[in-house]
Amino acid sequence: MPEATPLHPLFAAQVTGIDLRRGVTAEDAVWLRAALDRHAVLVLPGQAIDDAQQVAFAEAFGPLEATRPGARGAGSPLIVLSNLGPDGDIVLPSDRQVLNNLANRQWHHDSSFKPVAARASALSARAIPACGGETEFACMRAAWAALPEPLRAQVRGRVALHDFGWSRSRVAPDLVTDAERMQHPPVRQAMLLAENPHGPALYLGAHARSVEGMDEAAGRALIEALMDFATQPRFVYRHAWTQHDLVVWDNRAVLHRATPFDSHAERRVMVRTTIAGERPTLAAAA
Ligand code: OGA
Ligand code: MN
Repeated sequence: MPEATPLHPLFAAQVTGIDLRRGVTAEDAVWLRAALDRHAVLVLPGQAIDDAQQVAFAEAFGPLEATRPGARGAGSPLIVLSNLGPDGDIVLPSDRQVLNNLANRQWHHDSSFKPVAARASALSARAIPACGGETEFACMRAAWAALPEPLRAQVRGRVALHDFGWSRSRVAPDLVTDAERMQHPPVRQAMLLAENPHGPALYLGAHARSVEGMDEAAGRALIEALMDFATQPRFVYRHAWTQHDLVVWDNRAVLHRATPFDSHAERRVMVRTTIAGERPTLAAAA
């Protein structure tokens, strides 16, 4: 029987007693889904899995997203986050891969720029740097629960526009291609989700550009005030990776971001599978 041990006073748990190289039983799948709903981030150490085993693990939570065109692994259920080129050498810092990795350093929910945003993501550490490259998670249920009433009143029932072209061009003006902009026009997302029995969660992140019905400046000010509040250290669990850690998180309950490492000198290879959302966030609005 798997076992969960809390990693932070508010959320995140380490899961032991499960070997994903042997596959996921129907019982394990039920346990894992309930554990993810409850803890929002699950860390499974010592899972030296291959791509097929990672896909099988992720499918225990639901159908997977296909990786978007333009990202490494496009069309498959796997997305590779790596600073290595096809020959295994570290790529030059001007490379799009490095810029895409930079984009991941902003707090975000995966796929919030898609009409149906991702439910959850699972990330497997295949190669990790000796120093840096941790991943941080911020608990959006705890942030909502602690949010002062005047801010809460500005969030309830509100919709944010999430715009991939806008958020990527803030990282580097040329990072986003015209084809990508066409592929991902701005989408409407609820700012507050009631997805599961464990409490409503704020929903924002780097792609949240503006607030419907507010002028540009007021919308930006609100989004920034909420993001500053929600990403305070008390709401954050920082995961320092060990090779073969597998971490799965609920995108509708947490924000996450990558942290820097020496990408010119050290290798970092992470493989992600993304569990698709079941419905638009507006159907899950609190
Ligand atoms: C991701 C992501 C952060 C990291 O895989 O979706 O944002 O630390 N990763 O690699
Ligand atoms: Mn991400």
